[in-house]
Amino acid sequence: MSQPDLFAQYPQQYDSLDSIIEHMLNMDGDVLANAGTRVVISRGNPKAKILLVGEAPGPQENIEGIPFIGRAGKMLEKIFEAVNFNSNEDIYITNSVFRMPPGKDGKNFRKPTSKEIAHYRPYLFDIIRLINAPIVLLTGNVACEAVLGITGITRLRGKWIELEGRSIMPLFHPSYLLRNPSKKAGAPKSLMWEDIREVRRRWENLT
Ligand code: URA
Repeated sequence: MSQPDLFAQYPQQYDSLDSIIEHMLNMDGDVLANAGTRVVISRGNPKAKILLVGEAPGPQENIEGIPFIGRAGKMLEKIFEAVNFNSNEDIYITNSVFRMPPGKDGKNFRKPTSKEIAHYRPYLFDIIRLINAPIVLLTGNVACEAVLGITGITRLRGKWIELEGRSIMPLFHPSYLLRNPSKKAGAPKSLMWEDIREVRRRWENLT
């Protein structure tokens, strides 16, 4: 599938992962700075051949400062384990938005807005470039909007998009699978197993 290249609009600003992380922890003009939630950036192996982009930290991630360690993270671990990926060795995990957007009560969380996604995009793009993994997985519509500038996960999932020398695949978000637990053929979970097996095949064929 061909895709307009959003990366071209965001020239690289940082030359190392350490420098971008240090800057992000004290980000200028952070749209969620007043939210009172912490900056949560990444986990996993920076040399991994797969980079996974999620949505935003949730309450558990906000407490511990590590992405995907709450309920969605446990589901993500199951997905990786099903195809023998070790998330500490084989994957580098980050998000589209780097602070939890707080809900109305200040405790719960909400989906990030397009403005928030756009604000963090230059950082996300530099992380993608610096990790330089040949395979990039986008979980859910927020990650698709952040990286591709489009949404429509039901249509996009499971198909490779070649961009900037990387193979990008949109996948359902693990939280969506938690809300749709049916294992019937054609249900989101069974489509996810097909997609992650395809990711594993591509990973095995990397030279
Ligand atoms: N969901 C995400 O998309 N990212 C996290 O870090 C946690 C939950």
